[in-house]
Amino acid sequence: MAPTEKSRKSTVGSGDVADRLLDWYDAHHRELPWRVSPSAFAAGVRADPYRVWLSEIMLQQTTVEAVKPYFAKFLDKWPAVTDLAFAEPEDVMKAWAGLGYYSRARNLKKCADLVAAEYGGSFPGTEDGLRQLPGIGAYTAAAIAAIAFGQRAVVIDGNVERVMARLFEIRIPLPEAKATIRAHLEKLVPSDRPGDFAQAMMDLGATICTPRRPRCMLCPLRDDCLAILTGDPELLPIKAAKAEKPTRRGAAFVALRHDGAILLRKRPEKGLLGGMSEVPTTGWTARQDGDLTTTSAPFSADWRHAGSISHVFTHFALELDVYRADVVSPETPAGHWWSPVSAVHDEALPTVMKKAIESAIPGATKRRH
Ligand code: ADE
Repeated sequence: MAPTEKSRKSTVGSGDVADRLLDWYDAHHRELPWRVSPSAFAAGVRADPYRVWLSEIMLQQTTVEAVKPYFAKFLDKWPAVTDLAFAEPEDVMKAWAGLGYYSRARNLKKCADLVAAEYGGSFPGTEDGLRQLPGIGAYTAAAIAAIAFGQRAVVIDGNVERVMARLFEIRIPLPEAKATIRAHLEKLVPSDRPGDFAQAMMDLGATICTPRRPRCMLCPLRDDCLAILTGDPELLPIKAAKAEKPTRRGAAFVALRHDGAILLRKRPEKGLLGGMSEVPTTGWTARQDGDLTTTSAPFSADWRHAGSISHVFTHFALELDVYRADVVSPETPAGHWWSPVSAVHDEALPTVMKKAIESAIPGATKRRH
């Protein structure tokens, strides 16, 4: 007899789900540089909290593939949290440049400093303890507690939300569904290997239970999944409509000196892209649009329109008109400096600024060998 929804529901929530998921993870987990594989874990190897913390901060809002080279670079430069604490903040921002959401990098440095100075170089081993540290929110504290310290924490990211919404056929739209998802997941997390369980949920969401065209035939939880039973897992989770992002506009000025240097300045420490470097721009972070003409240029010169670029931030889309001037012996406005184009890839330039420079001087931000 086919199982009724009621009898199906009763299997979800038992330890079987965690067992099936962990068996699948043992065979199909992704090899990731910050991870201890299940076989190494079984042999007694434990994750390094510094690596887990670093990877989790980097993975917020970013993909595994984007993070890998940054993770390798950071470990190479700063193999332990105490090394990061000794680093110059400017060097950390430079190493982070291109990964986005720069307040993460500032908090990363603050957190390393605190762990080195106040915690003797060891991360606290509980969710509550971790929550006290800069840049560590509920998700990250739970992830580090589970993965690095084996705590039975409930770890919920976007992948986990999707898996859970389908497994329990939760039709409440996100974000309202979060409480229901948490309540269900709390019952599933095993006390043995909670860190691998969390990572198995993430891997399942990333490789099988994908947003589009999930590969249900390969899913270790297909017999538990209520969304499969009713037909269309792909339609879950339901998401509340998001407000459309406003577009802001402004202009950016790429001044190229005759010796091949461009004019840069530092953004204020607080606010969007705080503390990062940029070419001079008009205002564009205020609610109203910035000036689109050359009246706000850093000095008067033969500014020529070189192109336009667009970039999407969390709360708005930005369109910048880019102007270029080739200058011989220009003034250096206060707080600005000239950076050789050949070394511009080493500056703490966020992606939006690299785009602006590229549109005025093609190839300028590419590393040269
Ligand atoms: N995304 C965030 N943390 C992750 C992890 N530990 N493994 C895989 N994907 C992740």
